[in-house]
Amino acid sequence: MSFKQNRITELFNIEYPLIQAGMIWASGWKLASAVSNAGGLGIIGAGSMYPDILKEHIQKCKKATTKPFGVNVPMLYPDIDKIMDIIIEEQVEIVFTSAGNPKTWTSHLQSRGIKVVHVVSSVKFAVKSQEAGVDAIVAEGFEAGGHNGRDETTTFTLIPMVREKIDIPLIAAGGIGNGKGMLAAMVLGADAVQVGSRFVATPEASSHQNFKEMVVKAQEGDTVLTLKELAPVRLLKNKFFEDVQELYTKSPSKEDLTALLGRARAKKGMYEGDLEEGELEIGQISGLINEIKPAAEIVEEMIAEFEATKIAAQNF
Ligand SMILES: Cc1cc2nc3c(=O)[nH]c(=O)nc-3n(C[C@H](O)[C@H](O)[C@H](O)COP(=O)(O)O)c2cc1C
Repeated sequence: MSFKQNRITELFNIEYPLIQAGMIWASGWKLASAVSNAGGLGIIGAGSMYPDILKEHIQKCKKATTKPFGVNVPMLYPDIDKIMDIIIEEQVEIVFTSAGNPKTWTSHLQSRGIKVVHVVSSVKFAVKSQEAGVDAIVAEGFEAGGHNGRDETTTFTLIPMVREKIDIPLIAAGGIGNGKGMLAAMVLGADAVQVGSRFVATPEASSHQNFKEMVVKAQEGDTVLTLKELAPVRLLKNKFFEDVQELYTKSPSKEDLTALLGRARAKKGMYEGDLEEGELEIGQISGLINEIKPAAEIVEEMIAEFEATKIAAQNF
């Protein structure tokens, strides 16, 4: 399908303004290459990878696709220097940074010819990212799966507010899982969308099958943003979440919450499939995800629905 090109498709040299989000324990080379091959932009999530594992994923992704792909790097990562060295050595062309100051890495990466996109959840940080010289911004609303902003600004309100304040290309994220959502986000001022949760329920995602099936079963109201004192995160309600709620009744300190969270909770839930004790990160849009299906089908369906809805909207 030929698609109208815009600033984002031109920036990344892709067919559709549809980006698969970098996601810990979900987006390795298989998912990223499948989305890139389907005409979107696939992203490897480095946040759950040791540097040598990331290197392997980048190399496998290069073999699996000739199309552009990116790497997402949460800046809280302890070995971030090594991660960035690998990205440069492997000549990755696009990096999405999140959870940190956009000034820290942007010019270093850009001076090596890498395009840099920073993820924000507020107007204030969107403006700071533009000032830091990033090539584009992802503005992620409160609906999104995974780590999120404290302000609870929804995608529907965040995108037009960010659009008013920045001129550079804008990518909307949070609560987008079909072509109608994609069109709505672009009507609100986005140049492209970043989709996370919908791509978890694919055979190509490296997430555990138990987790994928729970995502498919999830209904409206089954996720909640919690642990704001540490790093706000949207989770499926399970036993671990109930344990967090129980602790909140005792006015816990930050240390108490950190101790309950412990280490490797996210891996336990999303990668090892422990639906009771693990942390299960997913967005509100999970209520609309009813099937595990190949990433390429998701891309095709989203684009077809986007185009059909655009035509139908002329009769509004
Ligand atoms: C399982 C999961 C893991 C995620 N991991 C990351 C991550 O490592 N880095 C990051 O910047 N965002 C991460 N996110 C957020 C996504 O990149 C994306 O912005 C978000 O999923 C978009 O909202 P949606 O889930 O409603 O599509 C994660 C989201 C999910 C669902």
